[in-house]
Amino acid sequence: MRKFTSVKDVPDPRLWVEEVKQLKKNPFAYKALGQNKVLALVFFNPSLRTRMSTQRAAYNLGMDVMVLNVGTDGWKLEMNDGTVMDGTSQEHVKEAVEVISQYCDIVGVRSFPSLTDRDKDYQEEVLSKFIRYSKVPVVSLESATSHPLQGFADLLTVNEYQTKERPKVVLSWAPHPKALPQAVPNAFVEWMQAGDVDLVVTHPKGYELAPEIIKQTRVEYEQDKAFEGADFIYAKNWSSYEQYGQILSKDPSWTITEEKMKLTNSARFMHCLPIRRNIIATDAVIDNSIVIPQAENRLYTAQLVLKKMLESL
Ligand code: CP
Repeated sequence: MRKFTSVKDVPDPRLWVEEVKQLKKNPFAYKALGQNKVLALVFFNPSLRTRMSTQRAAYNLGMDVMVLNVGTDGWKLEMNDGTVMDGTSQEHVKEAVEVISQYCDIVGVRSFPSLTDRDKDYQEEVLSKFIRYSKVPVVSLESATSHPLQGFADLLTVNEYQTKERPKVVLSWAPHPKALPQAVPNAFVEWMQAGDVDLVVTHPKGYELAPEIIKQTRVEYEQDKAFEGADFIYAKNWSSYEQYGQILSKDPSWTITEEKMKLTNSARFMHCLPIRRNIIATDAVIDNSIVIPQAENRLYTAQLVLKKMLESL
């Protein structure tokens, strides 16, 4: 496996869910696989879960880990080709990635979108340059448009907590004071489409996700209607795709409350974290949720991805 950038890189996502459940039962079984192998994690943006879960996943496989916070510790990278570099960028991404990939066996990169230039963001400028210039496999730690490690952990979590064969899973937009990327909802939709669930997406008008992501997935503009009979509620804010990067609404009536959860089939509440309490969902909803085991699953799903890459070296 040379890259993990979306569910499309996974030959059989449902089989991977079964494999990761086995790995979770015995996480140290492959400790020898990563001996003398190094994972480099490159962050252009902040992270708690992705950084720590992927680091721990590598340790479970016997790997060593190096972390570079480009945003604060590294040279400012130039992304464009042919630029006269007389501005603020000190190093070109071409040399930087080739050099980093000489020091490691797998490289992970996190790079958020600009939210100002949709074409550029959806072309995945940073991630695609890492893939182009790296000599070793590349793992997305969340790119401009997708968060596949999160989506994989979410599919595992739904699988573990589902009480019926084909659960109803609702992705609900919720308000937020800042403009956020579409990466998590995009990945969530794609991974749920790959699973065996009845997926419904609910959001105010103007927050439609990219057509190539949503495909035939049902969109319901009335949140209460979407929640009826739901087995899982996955809350997330995102900024508009159509009016790219804009906040079109901060409507607090979309906050997930206990009253709204009562409309569901005793649904489990999920969120990728970090979550703004009493903005996205109320304290009571979060405190009665599965967000902590969901975050734990980030470790095992990252470990399976690294294991697959190590096996293909
Ligand atoms: N959910 C998630 O990716 O968390 P971090 O941004 O803290 O890594």
